[in-house]
Amino acid sequence: MKILGILGSPRDRGNTVLLLDAALAAAAEAGAQTEKVGVSDLDLNFCIGCGKCYATGQCIYDDGVTMLQSKMMEADGIILASPNYIQSVTAQLKTLMDRSSLHIHCFLFDGKYGASVATTGGAGAEQVAEFANQYLQVCGMQTVGIAAAQAAGVGALVEQEAALARATALGTDLVAAIGERREYPDQMAAHEVFAEHMKQLVVAMSDMAPFQVEHWRKMGWL
Ligand SMILES: Cc1cc2nc3c(=O)[nH]c(=O)nc-3n(C[C@H](O)[C@H](O)[C@H](O)COP(=O)(O)O)c2cc1C
Repeated sequence: MKILGILGSPRDRGNTVLLLDAALAAAAEAGAQTEKVGVSDLDLNFCIGCGKCYATGQCIYDDGVTMLQSKMMEADGIILASPNYIQSVTAQLKTLMDRSSLHIHCFLFDGKYGASVATTGGAGAEQVAEFANQYLQVCGMQTVGIAAAQAAGVGALVEQEAALARATALGTDLVAAIGERREYPDQMAAHEVFAEHMKQLVVAMSDMAPFQVEHWRKMGWL
């Protein structure tokens, strides 16, 4: 079982990495093979909305994002990690999200499990982590939960022991969810509604986006 941790913070010795490392260590302890990638270390191009990915299945760019998305495809579980940057994830992590339009239209992460962790200077870490989980869900994944904490300086969290315990529990639970193929009825119901909307879009776009139709047919969804 492979678990990929994606660090959205540009600070690899900051606050968010503490939560991510704790979650990944717990996942490893539970038997998973883990890997961590820092999005800031990658060369990133912004989505320009050209729609080539819908047509061909491939982005016009071959860069750090495409490399990371390949790793995500190989993983059974993904943990996203971001500091609160103005009530959202970092621009680096948002760039990965924006480059995932095809992954959403085709639910390319169907069957995978995810979780998100976030830190913040003041309030709002929970919302940032929930937002990151929503991204994973619209790509077809089920998410097991979040771990959030407030920062107490650089490389330190408020009530750090309790915060790390939450991240540890999250990493352990992620491995358990993958192992038992856990089902989250609320998320599955939301996915059904979203998939119906997406089906109409994929059919409406079929002339200009043949890859999407082929993928949906291959999956037996059309
Ligand atoms: C550009 C930037 C924007 C931020 N925006 C917020 C914010 O809107 N609200 C907040 O409470 N903290 C904000 N912070 C503080 C960070 O969320 C906080 O320090 C976080 O723990 C940093 O994590 P890191 O060490 O992993 O980078 C911001 C920090 C930066 C550098």
